[in-house]
Amino acid sequence: MSDHKKNLDIKSILTENRLKGLWNLMSGYQGLYIGAMLYQTVAALAKSGTYLLLEYFVDNFLLAQTAGVDVWVVAVGFILLFLFQGVATFLSQKSAAQTAEGTIQRLRDYLYDHIQNLTFAYHAKTDTGDLVQRCTSDVDALRRFYADQAIGVGRIIILFLVNFIAILRLNTKLALLSVIVVPIVVFVSIYFFRKVSHAYEAYQEQDAILSTTLQENLSGVRVVKAFARQPYEITKFERDNLEKYKRGRKLLTIHSLFWPISDVLCGAQLLAGYYIGARMAISGDISIGTYMAYAGLVVWIIYPLRNLGRMIVQMSNGLVSYDRIYKIIKEDREPLDKGSFHGKEAIRGDIIFENVSFHYEDGSEVLHDISFECKAGMAIALLGSTGSGKTSLVNLLPRFYDFTEGVVLLDGYDLRLYSRRFLRERIGIVEQEPFLFSRSIYENITFGVKEEVSQEQVEQAAKMAAVHDVILGFPQGYKTLVGERGVTLSGGQKQRIAIARTFLKDPRILILDDSTSSVDAETEVHIQAAIHSLMQNRTTFIIAHRVQTIMKADLILVMDNGRIIQKGSHNELIQQDGIYHSIFDIQTKIEEDLQKEISSAS
Ligand SMILES: Nc1ncnc2c1ncn2[C@@H]1O[C@H](COP(=O)(O)OP(=O)(O)O)[C@@H](O)[C@H]1O
Ligand SMILES: [Mg+2]
Repeated sequence: MSDHKKNLDIKSILTENRLKGLWNLMSGYQGLYIGAMLYQTVAALAKSGTYLLLEYFVDNFLLAQTAGVDVWVVAVGFILLFLFQGVATFLSQKSAAQTAEGTIQRLRDYLYDHIQNLTFAYHAKTDTGDLVQRCTSDVDALRRFYADQAIGVGRIIILFLVNFIAILRLNTKLALLSVIVVPIVVFVSIYFFRKVSHAYEAYQEQDAILSTTLQENLSGVRVVKAFARQPYEITKFERDNLEKYKRGRKLLTIHSLFWPISDVLCGAQLLAGYYIGARMAISGDISIGTYMAYAGLVVWIIYPLRNLGRMIVQMSNGLVSYDRIYKIIKEDREPLDKGSFHGKEAIRGDIIFENVSFHYEDGSEVLHDISFECKAGMAIALLGSTGSGKTSLVNLLPRFYDFTEGVVLLDGYDLRLYSRRFLRERIGIVEQEPFLFSRSIYENITFGVKEEVSQEQVEQAAKMAAVHDVILGFPQGYKTLVGERGVTLSGGQKQRIAIARTFLKDPRILILDDSTSSVDAETEVHIQAAIHSLMQNRTTFIIAHRVQTIMKADLILVMDNGRIIQKGSHNELIQQDGIYHSIFDIQTKIEEDLQKEISSAS
């Protein structure tokens, strides 16, 4: 495929008008598709030609010896017409298939690329299952639209017109009598088309819900088992599945009502045509040859008509799917490179928050009037209950979301002057539950780096993250696959691989969001050490629940309900009456009790 076909900006060519959008989507293939239609015309002409030749043969060879040519000329004529018809049909289907596959492959690539670039806010509000559904089932419905339905409708219209004209040439009265039913069939088809559209849309929606349920359930299967929630999950799945069945049944019922109706209409028309034609032949209005040609030709206007209904009804699937895909493509991408800073400059890591407030698109404010200052290399700790806004605060730094009021300065410049890519390349995040891909450990560690790195560098990072020995313990070392097809890693091991990944990225600003809360005490010692070395020479934001973890920080922000209610160093905060003091007391007491128990037990 040539480059201009590949680099099509699909977003700019899709339109609210579905047929126009579908046409634009074929950009680069439109000529080929028109070619497919022309081949269809050739095939239809050859088909009618066969019947007209039949008329000539019957009237001039069988019934009378009036022909001026030898019979073998007629025989060769039949063979040529069949050949034309076959070759043209083949070329038409080949061109249509090529168009469909090419257009859809490009659309699929674009969709994937587009989804990768949508905002955090979009992904936060969208089900993964629904996205998967739109990228697979709906895209496939479009493929069928191009490969079968659009070309099919074209074929039907061409067949109808060509054969109708051929019958008109035979006998006008007969031709007009043969198409009485056409308006009725078209009307019925459009009526059902509307009904099927709605039913199909409802069906696709439910299908997406079911995919989401299934997907969540499978990825969370350990949690489900641990909580013995299988009965609940099974009931939920059965409920969703039943709904899908009901909607599917409704869709099928509409289909099964449509077929008999259109069949009866078309069948009646065909019979009426045969009857009238026969009467005309008997009374001598038309010749026997004309009647035989008519009997053949009329099938090729009624048969396409019957299929037109089916095609129109099936096309509704393609059109509904177009809407569903269009909705994703319409979403704005995150402007990754927008900003004054997007070069190779290094940053120091001085950060100032001045009266910063923030709310998500839909909700009320989750951060109010946040102000603090940190110099490059300092460690800032955030302490606060769940939902107090800690994650929301640190998410502002890589511009996953933009603050709504106040100002954030990085090295003295407004954070919004830096492009998102620039920031994200320089900020490292170790999340509470790091996500590892089903790839090798090596690939997971090198995930964030763009340049080639040596095996030594990767091992060095793993050593600093205290996970090198663990990796060597696996049969295939760094080549070991993670996840379902490979080893199952413990929470602490995943955490340390994520830390190694961050070491290798070597960010100036480091965010540790609850990176130690979900691991056991022994692992925590390892991780603490790893984290401690990772924090050296970087501006670090550390979110943790244990005072022991954060007391060494240069600045501690105690958060509640989106506000900073206390800030200062450990020594300053411990002097004040306040939440920090009480948390410290409670936690120290727990630790002491624990120590006492351990020593009395031994
Ligand atoms: N993507 C989101 N959209 C809307 N509200 C959100 C989103 N993420 C978090 N919130 C809300 O923001 C508040 C702060 O959440 P969060 O920053 O995650 O707190 P913490 O990390 O301290 O537990 C909560 O009330 C939470 O429900
Ligand atoms: Mg959080």
